[in-house]
Amino acid sequence: MSDLAEKIKKETEGLGPVEALTLVSDIFRDKIVFSTSFGWEDQVITHIIFANNLPIKVFTLETGRLFPETYYVWNRTMEIYGKPIHAYYPQHELLEKMVNAKGPNSFYESVENRKECCGIRKIEPLNRALEGNECWITGIRAEQSANRQFMEHVEWDEPHQLVKFHPIYSWTLDEVKEYIKKYNIPYNTLHDRGFPSIGCAPCTRAVQPGEDFRAGRWWWEDQSKKECGLHEVK
Ligand code: ADX
Ligand code: SF4
Repeated sequence: MSDLAEKIKKETEGLGPVEALTLVSDIFRDKIVFSTSFGWEDQVITHIIFANNLPIKVFTLETGRLFPETYYVWNRTMEIYGKPIHAYYPQHELLEKMVNAKGPNSFYESVENRKECCGIRKIEPLNRALEGNECWITGIRAEQSANRQFMEHVEWDEPHQLVKFHPIYSWTLDEVKEYIKKYNIPYNTLHDRGFPSIGCAPCTRAVQPGEDFRAGRWWWEDQSKKECGLHEVK
């Protein structure tokens, strides 16, 4: 971990997300961004940023394959808070080449094809969204998967050369739900229909009670391969 990440880790230790986000937005002025997929963890963070007028740019990776419910909550969030949410789209040349060669649903055919699609629709836009920034905030929680339990609330992101900060890393799902209710925060209604984790529509399905939070993501693949490359697990 870099000295900077180590310093941020120490300074944010034990702080609640409002205090911690206020602190990091002050430290990284204009070079700090938050990525939202409009899941309820992200809605908690969006609420904190917008309600406290924190100078953190909020962005989403618009893959073109999101659920209608996701577009609805995105729009509602803009209406309620009256603040911008920046959309990053895939490069159309790359997308056209892939879809014209392999069809619109090539991701079901192999892990390689799935990673190609995630690369074009998420990773390349993510790299553009992070360019020039020094801190990247996410809604990752330890409880979300076996892999994520071994992360830390602050990390050094070597590929992007920035500090990655997960302000509600140690929250339980119940704490997330209580916060949403308490502040009447808009959330994706798919969460009420068995979707703990929501990504692209063709690649996400509901899970059964007791199943892993991420079991519905790329459900046709082997468990070990189920990260899309946004968050590499060391
Ligand atoms: S993923 O790697 O499987 O897609 P997950 O859905 O668990 O990630 O979300 C974890 C965090 O990644 C979110 O809290 C958010 O910060 C970021 N994220 C995931 N998908 C997107 C997206 N489409 N746009 C912006 N951020 C995203
Ligand atoms: Fe493509 Fe599915 Fe990845 Fe979305 S989650 S970018 S549709 S492979």
